[in-house]
Amino acid sequence: MTASIIDGKKIAADIKEHLKEKITALPNTPQLAIVLVGNDEPSLIYVRNKQKAAAQIGLLSKLYHLDENTSEKELLQLINNLNTDSATNGIIVQLPLPAHINTSKIINAISPLKDVDGFHPYNTGMLQNNEKPYFIAATPLGVMRLIKSVIPELSGKNVVIIGASLIVGRPLATLLLNQACTVTITHAQTKNIKELTAKADILIAACGVAKLVKADWIKENALLIDVGINREGKQLCGDIDFDDVKNKALAITPVPGGVGPMTIAMLLANTVDACLLQKSPL
Ligand code: GUN
Repeated sequence: MTASIIDGKKIAADIKEHLKEKITALPNTPQLAIVLVGNDEPSLIYVRNKQKAAAQIGLLSKLYHLDENTSEKELLQLINNLNTDSATNGIIVQLPLPAHINTSKIINAISPLKDVDGFHPYNTGMLQNNEKPYFIAATPLGVMRLIKSVIPELSGKNVVIIGASLIVGRPLATLLLNQACTVTITHAQTKNIKELTAKADILIAACGVAKLVKADWIKENALLIDVGINREGKQLCGDIDFDDVKNKALAITPVPGGVGPMTIAMLLANTVDACLLQKSPL
């Protein structure tokens, strides 16, 4: 049996179409501030893609592209200005930041009400407590939508996540736990990783190691979600060896065209929500 391919591009396009209609009905246009420090190559591409997608649905994005040598103080000043600017609904600071800037200090300075990346400790803490945060990080949100498009009822499922990052692995584990899954997070120091992954009904790879996951890592008929974006020459590939696993899995997300487009769609959805949130009394 060949795995079905989950079309993240199509699901994201449907979400964006819905957002476009929602924006038309709003009294004002939602506005996203994108802060980029320096010229990290992948970040430049991600930011360009975010701006392009925003424009497609009629959402305003404003890029604050700062010099590599911008000080922490200057960056904090910009965040403070954006926090109080009534035209700005959502703020994201593209990561990674240059080494001389303390990332936590910057993220902690963003108003939780404008934190459309869902990285502020208020939002991550509320998620941990299984209460409603203002925002949940876009990639985990997108992954949940893709998983549910194949397996709508998640209660009792065995899930293994490869990668314990703050942006993907940890919030995703919490979202799945909140849906009554049994969740294992593995990382670079995990021993006998294959023994764990081979028991997963749903396996999520988010570790940034090209084609790490092979057919003997997975259970027959597992759902595979590939968050990795790795460069192999001119080609992009994921953390899962697609060709090796495709005859064993139930379904798999491709790279590109799987999780990537969903991340952007969910960021835009968060920004529309931010606009609504700031218009209504808390
Ligand atoms: N760098 C990699 N992924 C992300 C993301 O989702 N948001 C931000 N701000 N930076 C990132």
